Amino acid sequence: MQEIRVELTKNPKKKPAPGDPLPFGRIFTDHMFMMDYDLGQGWHDPRIVPYGPIELEPSAMCLHYGQSVFEGMKAYRAVDGRILLFRPEKNMARLNVSNERLCIPQIDEEFAKEAIAKLVSIERDWIPSGEGTSLYIRPFIIGVDPHVGVHPASHLIFMVICCPVGAYYPEGLNPVKIYVEKNYVRAVRGGMGYTKTAGNYAASLKAQDEAEKQEYTQVLWLDGVERKYIEEVGTMNVFFVIDDEVITPALQGSILSGITRMSCIEILKHWGMKVTERRISIDEVAEAARTGRLKEAFGSGTAAVISPIGHLKWGDDIMEINNGEIGPISQKLYDTLTGIQWGKLPDELNWTYEVH
Ligand code: COI
Repeated sequence: MQEIRVELTKNPKKKPAPGDPLPFGRIFTDHMFMMDYDLGQGWHDPRIVPYGPIELEPSAMCLHYGQSVFEGMKAYRAVDGRILLFRPEKNMARLNVSNERLCIPQIDEEFAKEAIAKLVSIERDWIPSGEGTSLYIRPFIIGVDPHVGVHPASHLIFMVICCPVGAYYPEGLNPVKIYVEKNYVRAVRGGMGYTKTAGNYAASLKAQDEAEKQEYTQVLWLDGVERKYIEEVGTMNVFFVIDDEVITPALQGSILSGITRMSCIEILKHWGMKVTERRISIDEVAEAARTGRLKEAFGSGTAAVISPIGHLKWGDDIMEINNGEIGPISQKLYDTLTGIQWGKLPDELNWTYEVH
C-alpha cells in the first residue's frame, strides 16, 4: 500500500463545544485527504494536509461538465469511546460504481477505506458525542484537466473532507412534509440516477426550491418516463408500509443504491418482516392512504438516517400518514441502526469498522 504523507495544521481551529448547535455540513475539521491521478501514473501522492482552499484552473473540466462523484459516510463516537465507521467498504464499492459510469479511474477500495480511517483517527477530537451527532465524511473525486472540451479527464483529484454534524433535517426525527413532484424529473434509466454525482443533485435544485417555498422539506421523485412510479426523495431512499408489507422501489438504474436502504432491508428481513423491492406507483400509495392501509412512510439515508414522512402532497391529494407521527417500524429501525452505529446494541451483522 502507498504511504500516506501527513502534514498537520499549525493553526487548529476552535471546535464546537458540547451542546453547540451543529448545522449540517457547514463546519469543517482541520485536515483533509488528497490524492492525484494522472494518466500513465495512476493514483499517486496520497496525503493528509491542513483543510483549506485548493487551486483549480478556471478551465478545470469538473467546473464545466460535472465529471465528479462523491460519497457520504459517518464516523460515530460509540458509548464506550470507540470510533466506528458504518459499512465503509460499501461506500467505497459504490464510489467505484459511480466512477465507472463517469469515466473516472477506479480507486483501490481497501486503500481508500484505510485512508479515510487514518483521516478520522487524526480528526478524532472533532467527533461530537451529543445525542444524534456524528462526523460526516465526504469523499469526492473531480476531473481537473484545464480543457474546455468534452472528454474524460486524465488528471483527477480524490479528496476527503469531514464535518461534525447533527440532524440533516431541522425536524430531526419528527416527520417531514414531502411534496410529490409532477413537473420535473431527476433521472431516467440509462442515465446517471444510480450514481452519486453532482449533476443528479443539480437536477433536483429547482424542484427542491419550489417545494421549500411551499413549506415542504423535500420532493418525492416519480419515474422520468411515465411519471407514475416512485423513485426516491431528494436525499433519501423511500419506504412505505402498506398493511404488513414494507415496500421500497426496486433498483432499476435510476435511483441510488443507498447503504442505509440496504441495511434497513436486511434488518427488516432479520426481524422476519415482509420486505419487497418492487415498482410502486403513487396511485397505489394514494389508494392505500385513502383506504387506511398506508401505515407508515419513511426515508433512509446516511445524512438523514431514518426520516419519517408525516405528510405527502400529490396535487390536491394530501395524505396524512400515521397522524403525522413517527410509526413503530420507523422508530424501531432508527433505534436499531443508530444503536449499532453508536455501539449501544451488539453488532451481530458485523457492520461497524473500528478506527484506531
Ligand atoms: C448522504 O446521505 O450522505 C448524502 O450524500 C445525501 C446528501 C446529498 C446530503
